[in-house]
Amino acid sequence: MALKLVFATHNQHKFREVKALMPATIELVNLTDIGCFEDIPETADTIEGNAQLKADFVRNHYDLPCFADDTGLEVTALDGAPGVYSARYAGPKKDAIANMEKLLEALAGKEDRSAQFKTVIALSMEGKEVMFPGICQGTIIHEPKGDQGFGYDPIFLPEGYDLTFAEMNQEEKGKISHRGKAIALLLDYVRNNF
Ligand code: IMP
Repeated sequence: MALKLVFATHNQHKFREVKALMPATIELVNLTDIGCFEDIPETADTIEGNAQLKADFVRNHYDLPCFADDTGLEVTALDGAPGVYSARYAGPKKDAIANMEKLLEALAGKEDRSAQFKTVIALSMEGKEVMFPGICQGTIIHEPKGDQGFGYDPIFLPEGYDLTFAEMNQEEKGKISHRGKAIALLLDYVRNNF
């Protein structure tokens, strides 16, 4: 029987990306699938802290094996901003287009456009709590390209590629992305420990 694992997200883009990386031995469900319609508060001031908050919420309220991810875009010339505040960079509406516009403005005239996506996945399963990091380095281009993916994908060019994340399909992005790398570590751990 497949292992049922909750991915603590309401974000359908993230869910589809991660589901595509799961082996047949894992049945991945999201928050809606378990009847959780709340927006889990992300009040920590680190990516690790927010991932843990979301995993703890599911453990405490639903007592199911679960993991949560939190991601930030860290831009070198902005001293790592927007980082843990990436979702609300341009305000509380979490508007992806406004976030990209604000970032492009902040980088206007700056020579160094290097950046990285950093994901941390927090797993909570059978009394064990473990974190898995994933980083993808790249650069911020000057204007959005592509209509796949979500968030900052249209302005992020991963290192070694000439397509933005938004010009790649789910599988291509999943192979090289921050989240894909963290998920690979999580799957190794689950394989070796459960
Ligand atoms: P969170 O992990 O959902 O809190 O994401 C924080 C912010 O980063 C949000 O604005 C997301 O849209 C953005 N984000 C998270 N993951 C990705 C990604 O894989 N590509 C582009 N933007 C992302």
